[in-house]
Amino acid sequence: MHEKVASLRGEIEAFGTDGSAGAEQFRLKYLSKKGLVSALFEDLKSIPAEQKRQAGQILNELKQLAESKLKDLQEGAVDTGATGAAGLDLTLPPVANKVGNLHPLSLTRYRIIEVFERLGFSVADGPEIEDDWYNFSALNFPPDHPAREMQDTFFIQKDPEVLLRTHTSNVQIRLMEKSKPPIRSIMPGRVYRNEAISARAHCFFHQVEGLYVDRNVGFADLKQTLYHFAREIYGKDIQIRYRPSYFPFTEPSAEIDISCLICKGKGCTVCKHSGWVEIAGSGMVHPNVLKNCNIDPEEFTGFAFGMGIERVAQLLFNVNDLRLYSENDVRFLKQFKSVI
Ligand code: PHE
Repeated sequence: MHEKVASLRGEIEAFGTDGSAGAEQFRLKYLSKKGLVSALFEDLKSIPAEQKRQAGQILNELKQLAESKLKDLQEGAVDTGATGAAGLDLTLPPVANKVGNLHPLSLTRYRIIEVFERLGFSVADGPEIEDDWYNFSALNFPPDHPAREMQDTFFIQKDPEVLLRTHTSNVQIRLMEKSKPPIRSIMPGRVYRNEAISARAHCFFHQVEGLYVDRNVGFADLKQTLYHFAREIYGKDIQIRYRPSYFPFTEPSAEIDISCLICKGKGCTVCKHSGWVEIAGSGMVHPNVLKNCNIDPEEFTGFAFGMGIERVAQLLFNVNDLRLYSENDVRFLKQFKSVI
């Protein structure tokens, strides 16, 4: 018995200093019901009566030693060789705190705003729930224009019509109604269209509209402003082209394309093998729109443009499925951590 106790005492004292085992292994080996210390208490039963007292005493001492060792192991107070003080391995690399990051659409919106703020544009905001006047009529949409039809517009109420805005152009009207030129603003916001959700279309997306109204604002100003914007966002090598187009609220109107960044103009699925990608609609503000906002078109002219933030982001980050932006999949979102 004495020999067994002595050898166990040595084992217990040395336990863990080679860094191989932890508190739970120790407990199982020595202090659990089937552990080595408990087994010695079983042996005690078969010891002659005159030796029992003394043997019991040294066994109790052994048990106390084992219990205090277990406590030390549990508190990490044993220097297990591989670790430093308090059981911490100070040579391990730190585990970084998990922090979130901005959504790619927010990143893109901030970048766009930054470019236009440097050109003197302020940022304006307006409601997403609109009436027919601000979304259509004031913008010179004829009463039977197809964009008013149910397949494009989410109507909340008919007669009087209340709807989810289909573009941020409603903010143009609100701005021009309440302020006098010069007006130089951009208007970022969410817009809604009744479209089936696919990789290329969604029932909501985001736009940035721009408006500049003053004396002597011409098409050259529009061209140079958007050329500057494209170079700031995509780099100096970007090419830009204007294609004649039609919007009820601008005359003349132009669609703006930039050279495809994905294939560098060689032709790919994003640019549909044309080498060009449409990035914005634009034009000179229609005189009727100025009149609707009590601005004299004989005295003032202006340009307006509107672009999709998703499209700007797609070309920045090579995201080819619109649905990714609203699915909240962290595997997608965390890829934008390093993008400032
Ligand atoms: N509102 C247009 C659209 O949603 C974009 C646009 C804005 C075009 C301003 C011209 C001028 O498609």
